[in-house]
Amino acid sequence: MTPDDMQHDMQDEKWQFLLSFLNASNSSVVIADARAPDYPIVFVNPTFKRVTGYTPEEALGRNCRFLQNDDCDQPERAAVSRTLADGGAIQVLMRNYRKNGEMFWNKLHLFPFPDADGTITHYIGAQHDVTRERSLVATLEQVAAEHAQLIERLDCKRDKLARLSLDLINAQEAERKAVARELHDELGQRLTALNMLLHRSLPYFHAGEAHAWWRQAEREIGAMVELVRDMSVSLRPPGLDYFGLEPTLRELLTRQFSQGPAWVFEYAGLPRRLAPEIEITVFRIVQESVTNIQRHAHARHAVVEVNGGAACTELELIVRDDGAGFDPSRQAELAHAGRAGLSGMRERVGLLGGAFEVDSRPGGGTRIVVTLPLAPQAQQDRHQQD
Ligand SMILES: Nc1ncnc2c1ncn2[C@@H]1O[C@H](COP(=O)(O)OP(=O)(O)O)[C@@H](O)[C@H]1O
Ligand SMILES: [Mg+2]
Repeated sequence: MTPDDMQHDMQDEKWQFLLSFLNASNSSVVIADARAPDYPIVFVNPTFKRVTGYTPEEALGRNCRFLQNDDCDQPERAAVSRTLADGGAIQVLMRNYRKNGEMFWNKLHLFPFPDADGTITHYIGAQHDVTRERSLVATLEQVAAEHAQLIERLDCKRDKLARLSLDLINAQEAERKAVARELHDELGQRLTALNMLLHRSLPYFHAGEAHAWWRQAEREIGAMVELVRDMSVSLRPPGLDYFGLEPTLRELLTRQFSQGPAWVFEYAGLPRRLAPEIEITVFRIVQESVTNIQRHAHARHAVVEVNGGAACTELELIVRDDGAGFDPSRQAELAHAGRAGLSGMRERVGLLGGAFEVDSRPGGGTRIVVTLPLAPQAQQDRHQQD
């Protein structure tokens, strides 16, 4: 494997050790003579043939660049020439060609091999075929790019879904408002008219059994007027549009907690009017929480706090009671079973870019904390879209 002119050099122990090591190596290695013109190859190990397809006889005496065929437009070539001239070492990635013409990526590590006097007599080139790694990396990059694209598309879909949900909630609120007005204006007025007629007819029913029927009819109509008013108010509190959140919440608590528990309401650090979406969301959360306290908590005390943060960029709502409490880890299971109060609150808050937290334990009361940005995310997004 070694040409005649090399045999003298390679006789000594150092060379014998190196060559036997290189012959057993799994890396393709070539040695070039640094003293002969154009660095001819004087040694190739067996792996060289496995990688390039060339036999030692075909490689010896030639310059390594024969592996590039006529693919000369590689800037690394100049770097290799400079390194050889300077007597340095270099690691470059180049396109090389096997004997059958197939291209492979050669990660070439070239370093000088000086003799005992320090004169560079040879250059050793270790070649690594990194084609597979590079194609794997390329595949991975492609997968990562596709993945990123997918995530972007998913994000886009999720935003769209959030906007649709918000539109749905807004449409639902608008519908409730319309039904509430209908109930109040149409049914309520007609019941009032009926009540007046009933009272005008009282002289004809002033005695005996007829009077008892009249009284019962009056009670029924009174109860219906009350029912229609309650339904209309809980569908859409009329005060919310006219007076804003604070008086409407106070009115809700007064009405709902008239039979207890004892309650405290605090409202501080916020402008008089907030964005309609914020007002209705806070109202619905308090409404649901208050209903939960009445239905499930059997509490002695309830507190509702609505605060603006220091910079008034967000709203914090806290509803707490000292009642029965529950195990919040069961929330998902409860939502699954159609108990949609808490999960509905969480969804509404999420749509406005806020945070929702339930803190409760059996026997330890319940605390709901909601934070809402005052310039709601969903609104900002929508403005950006328009
Ligand atoms: N303030 C509370 N005190 C005690 N238990 C509560 C309270 N709020 C909610 N819960 C518990 O959480 C469950 C889920 O509440 P929710 O989602 O509003 O559904 P629903 O009120 O229809 O049962 C309730 O059934 C109740 O067990
Ligand atoms: Mg509920």
